[in-house]
Amino acid sequence: MKIGIIGAGEIGGTLVRQYSKAGHTVKMSSSSGTEKLKNLALETGASAVMLADVVTDVDVIVISIPMIAILKLQKNLLKNTSANTPIIDTCNYYPIRDGLINDIENGMPESVWVSNQLQRPVIKTYNSILYRSLANSGLAKGSLSRVALPISGDDKQSKELVSILVNDSGFDSLDYGSLQDSWRQQPGSPVYCTDLTITQLKKSLERARKDLLPERRELGLKFILKNDPELWMDVVKHNRKIYESDFEVC
Ligand SMILES: NC(=O)c1ccc[n+]([C@@H]2O[C@H](COP(=O)([O-])OP(=O)(O)OC[C@H]3O[C@@H](n4cnc5c(N)ncnc54)[C@H](OP(=O)(O)O)[C@@H]3O)[C@@H](O)[C@H]2O)c1
Repeated sequence: MKIGIIGAGEIGGTLVRQYSKAGHTVKMSSSSGTEKLKNLALETGASAVMLADVVTDVDVIVISIPMIAILKLQKNLLKNTSANTPIIDTCNYYPIRDGLINDIENGMPESVWVSNQLQRPVIKTYNSILYRSLANSGLAKGSLSRVALPISGDDKQSKELVSILVNDSGFDSLDYGSLQDSWRQQPGSPVYCTDLTITQLKKSLERARKDLLPERRELGLKFILKNDPELWMDVVKHNRKIYESDFEVC
């Protein structure tokens, strides 16, 4: 597939590596031009391009930037992109970074907000896994302890295509339904950065409680900020504890 990735940081950069390794043709862009992406381009064979070029002539677009930066994307950025091109949204809302976004504070699912800003449907996935897990925990298809990622969105065909990419990056996927229901995979939910298998994921999505999300998001964040980022499995364990997960870490 031809893939355009907006934002080549921790998550976007990891996807550049994984998609390139899986044989896809990848273009990437960031907020500060192409120079900063030179090494990643050399390492992976992906091309570093300007923002306007990353969304043209691609089969799928990935947006992986701080949520508030969605507002900085040019209103006409997608004007030359087919309305059928699936757009993956990996973004999460963290008020400490993004400031307060009233619609989200008032209960609008984060990806519905993103979709409204872009005026395009989006598919939510990769938001619920730490980038270190994304980079290190992928396994071959069929492995019993393979971690699974939820996929939410309103277009079945787009979700099928996105599930191929999730598989190519080393993870199972679970179509969990509409974008309106995608709050179940937001920060503070039992599936958020808890590295679950597909069976565990199904049960945990059911157990998500919207009213608890903000409080639990902040508890998870506090732990991340206090601890060594190298010890990311401790974050997974801690999140499982806060989210009252019944599962042992794989
Ligand atoms: N890190 C994680 O473990 C993780 C896990 C799941 C989901 N997420 C979510 O995924 C998103 C990306 O996270 P991240 O950790 O990968 O972020 P990051 O490491 O800070 O990288 C952000 C990337 O976005 C680019 N960017 C920022 N503003 C932009 C703009 N206006 N136009 C184009 N590109 C822009 C940055 O470019 P410059 O460097 O040139 O500014 C950078 O390449 C966030 O919403 C985050 O909450 C993160």
